[in-house]
Amino acid sequence: MALSDKDRIFTNLYGLHDWRLPEARRRGNWDGTAAIIAKGRDWIIEELKQSGLRGRGGAGFPTGLKWSFMPKANPDGRPSYLVVNCDESEPGTCKDRDIIRHDPHTLIEGCLLAGVGMGAHAGYIYVRGEYYNEHLVLQAAIDEAYDAGLLGKNAAGSGWDFDLYVHRGAGAYICGEETALIESLEGKKGMPRLKPPFPAAVGLYGCPTTVNNVETIAVVPEIMRRGASWFASFGRPKNSGTKVFCIQGHVNKPCNVEAEMSIPLRELIDRYAGGVRGGWDNLLAVIPGGSSTPMIPKAVCDDVLMDFDALREQRTGLGTAAVIVMDKSTDLIKAIARLAAFYKHESCGQCTPCREGMGWQKRLMDRMVEGRAEIAEIDVLESVTRQIEGHTICALADGGVWPVQGLIRHFRPMMEERIQQYHAKKNGGVMPHANQTSGVPPLAAE
Ligand SMILES: Cc1cc2nc3c(=O)[nH]c(=O)nc-3n(C[C@H](O)[C@H](O)[C@H](O)COP(=O)(O)O)c2cc1C
Ligand code: SF4
Repeated sequence: MALSDKDRIFTNLYGLHDWRLPEARRRGNWDGTAAIIAKGRDWIIEELKQSGLRGRGGAGFPTGLKWSFMPKANPDGRPSYLVVNCDESEPGTCKDRDIIRHDPHTLIEGCLLAGVGMGAHAGYIYVRGEYYNEHLVLQAAIDEAYDAGLLGKNAAGSGWDFDLYVHRGAGAYICGEETALIESLEGKKGMPRLKPPFPAAVGLYGCPTTVNNVETIAVVPEIMRRGASWFASFGRPKNSGTKVFCIQGHVNKPCNVEAEMSIPLRELIDRYAGGVRGGWDNLLAVIPGGSSTPMIPKAVCDDVLMDFDALREQRTGLGTAAVIVMDKSTDLIKAIARLAAFYKHESCGQCTPCREGMGWQKRLMDRMVEGRAEIAEIDVLESVTRQIEGHTICALADGGVWPVQGLIRHFRPMMEERIQQYHAKKNGGVMPHANQTSGVPPLAAE
């Protein structure tokens, strides 16, 4: 069943209406904010836990639980901070952009409520550098919120003081990782650090901090207004709520759409994106949650549900819910090689497995695109990705190897065929034996 308009949180996702405060208020933003705050910090956190909201930034960590990690009081007088992650650099993902440019008051009101929920009197929104025009809208919306008394001292007449700042990044994927983001916000080079300590203990300027995605924060006011059970009524248990999906690639009508969590992938594509180009049977594979999530072949797409747990069962993930649809015209090996190049480029270089591994993986994938490899090297590639995964400071390297693992898992015969075709062309159909040279330079020489 389609999500009805009355159940949509983002009422201006497409920018059809004015984003400014008077119109936003008419659409329901900032309605009864002080009354919600009057219910107190514990009530806000409990309501959030009951709603089942899980972080929309990729990992899907329960939001209420995350907020509860923030200290109740800081005996040493350190302030607590809210940090909103609008770095949005995961290829395929463009939902936070639409929220800040078309519906900024959903986020700003969410920041105030999050500030109360985590005991913070200041929040920072870290915006991807390339979102220049979008950050101007967000800043203008914050300015008008200050003018209307919704931010600053006694914000929205609630008795809670709350200041909100916008900070622009310089355009680096790694700055979306929460510890790198905090470093960057402090004016340093955006490089991740090991956890623990987690930001709730040692975050921005060494103070307790919680980093949340834009969408996570922006849905909070409506959850508080309509109640946890309303939000939890969408999707499956532990996968609740509405969700903004970014549907793109070989579909007839690429779009961002707020739909019900746990919607079947096929229904999502058919109902909202006009179906796969050339029809469902022309589908080859889908990357379901942004570039870091392994692709799934059509047979899985036929009935998989779009939520955290269903996709995890298929050894992939909901990630940022950026659905990249690839029809039968796609050169999947080339597509994944392109992603491998992206991760090589974006590695910050601190960890040896990531710094060396991403480059090695990219070079081997480039050869796989041509077929200029040996079949045994598919196993080598797979085993190297396993040695990288889980052995680095942050999850960039995991996200960098998962697309390659997905390709091998589901489309190994396609890779083998490419290699066979290459050798057939080169050697008149004769595949080299293990002890013969294939004409492929040894890896170390590249
Ligand atoms: C390499 C890398 C890039 C990331 N980029 C983003 C991003 O652009 N936006 C985001 O919200 N989270 C991003 N994350 C996840 C954040 O570290 C963090 O988990 C998230 O902001 C938490 O918000 P949530 O609990 O609301 O999901 C990234 C993680 C990694 C490892
Ligand atoms: S995994 Fe890669 S991006 Fe992350 S800290 Fe290590 S080198 Fe940097």
